[in-house]
Amino acid sequence: MEIVQEIEKQKQYIEKVKKIHQNKKLKYYILTMGCQLNENDSEKLCGMIEEMGYEPTDNYQEADLVIFNTCCVRENAEDRLFGKLGELKKVKEKRGTIIAIGGCMMQEKHITDKIHESYPYTDIIFGTHTLQNFPEDLYKTLESKKKLQDVIDIDGEVYEGLPIKRMNNIKASVTIMYGCNNFCTYCIVPYVRGRERSRHPKDILEEIQELAKEGYKEVTLLGQNVNSYLRSEQWKEKGIDYHGINSFATLLRAVNEIEEIERIRFISPHPKDFTDDVIDAIANCEKVCKLIHLPLQSGSSNVLKTMNRKYTKEQYLNLVDKMKAKIPNLTLSTDIIVGFAGETEEDFEDTLDVVKKVCFEQVYMFIYSRRVGTPGDKMPNQVPEEIKHERFDRLKQLVESQIAENNQKYVGTIQKILVKGPSKNNPALLTGRTDSNKVVVFEGNKDVINKMVNLKIVSEHMWYLKGEEVKE
Ligand code: SAH
Ligand code: SF4
Ligand code: F3S
Repeated sequence: MEIVQEIEKQKQYIEKVKKIHQNKKLKYYILTMGCQLNENDSEKLCGMIEEMGYEPTDNYQEADLVIFNTCCVRENAEDRLFGKLGELKKVKEKRGTIIAIGGCMMQEKHITDKIHESYPYTDIIFGTHTLQNFPEDLYKTLESKKKLQDVIDIDGEVYEGLPIKRMNNIKASVTIMYGCNNFCTYCIVPYVRGRERSRHPKDILEEIQELAKEGYKEVTLLGQNVNSYLRSEQWKEKGIDYHGINSFATLLRAVNEIEEIERIRFISPHPKDFTDDVIDAIANCEKVCKLIHLPLQSGSSNVLKTMNRKYTKEQYLNLVDKMKAKIPNLTLSTDIIVGFAGETEEDFEDTLDVVKKVCFEQVYMFIYSRRVGTPGDKMPNQVPEEIKHERFDRLKQLVESQIAENNQKYVGTIQKILVKGPSKNNPALLTGRTDSNKVVVFEGNKDVINKMVNLKIVSEHMWYLKGEEVKE
């Protein structure tokens, strides 16, 4: 079926569900367990669900519809899902709540088998390629009262024009590509998200222009490997050049032209594809934040090879040097996995060495978690748990000492902050983030909320900075 027709069909199902409920204000609860792409999917789900007449609640005990949008990148996500599903049993018995589970983990057969066996009260299971069918799935479940599974293995189409309910009113995420072709040996994502598919530049620009009109100030462009945007098979054959946009670098430049947008971020780029045109675009586009997330994963060339990352320690460090030379005031954040199969003490020390050399602004650290179906899981030389934990703690210590040192550099500087609102920990103060994504709190008038302000940083406190408004 044509994509436009498919979306039309789902819109009709939205109307049908509305009719069943006859304008009764039912409630829904959604829990998003994964990354920003997963959150962006949840925003699309919420858009459809609210059009079907449901109102959000943050108490699942009073919900008529509960949705879990799952992640399977690491093992703890599974324990968390099964724990939550157990808690739902009583609510289901009491209220007849519809339980729907979707997202990456539902693409794994051993997981859906377990749900059927141990949590048979689950009503709907849907995968990453069938999200847009949710209105149809829900309608069929409501009508037939039967359980339904809507998971397919083939790559889903790129659907445009679904309703969306954004979680934030100044910052928005915009998915620019789906899937991943890289098959890093530790990673499950390519198996559950399928091959790379890029959205058409026209659709992306229209979405961001619309966001700008609605008052959004910051956009984050999302993809598993953003710098291979438009290099996917789908465009390779057809070729594409939409008003000069034919790559990630040219997309960045086009987004930079959208007037009301003040800040542009993106995640994640892959170091192997970080071409000079992207570096130049970041340097030239004043709205692109000079904090770049550049996943390292390991600092050892041997481990990087078994991880199938396609760069060496030296290539990563050279890339960082090149970026720092071309982009003034560049800061970097990264992801690191500790204890991948075969990682020796020497390999781990290479990771510490890269961290010392680059001095990241932020490091997201993960203990390697074996994922069923990935090559990493079958590698013979797995690192014992206690060694993984011991290395993780050493890395954490190093990172924290670097962050503390780095924070000192902010004191006395003027930083541009996008003000989010009152601070959760102290509602008398306002909070926002710097270009480099640091949390800053300050005393200020509420009329600066949703605006950019200049703050002088007066003190640092490990996970946040304190600022004062600069009087013009
Ligand atoms: N596409 C992105 C990352 C997606 S997953 C990229 O390539 O950077 C987010 C992070 O989770 C990864 O960067 C990696 O550090 C971590 N990760 C992925 N699989 C993992 C596993 N099996 N165990 C531990 N961490 C993992
Ligand atoms: Fe996973 Fe590697 Fe793809 Fe990132 S690039 S999603 S780590 S396979
Ligand atoms: Fe994201 Fe987790 Fe899926 S990291 S892509 S939600 S497996």
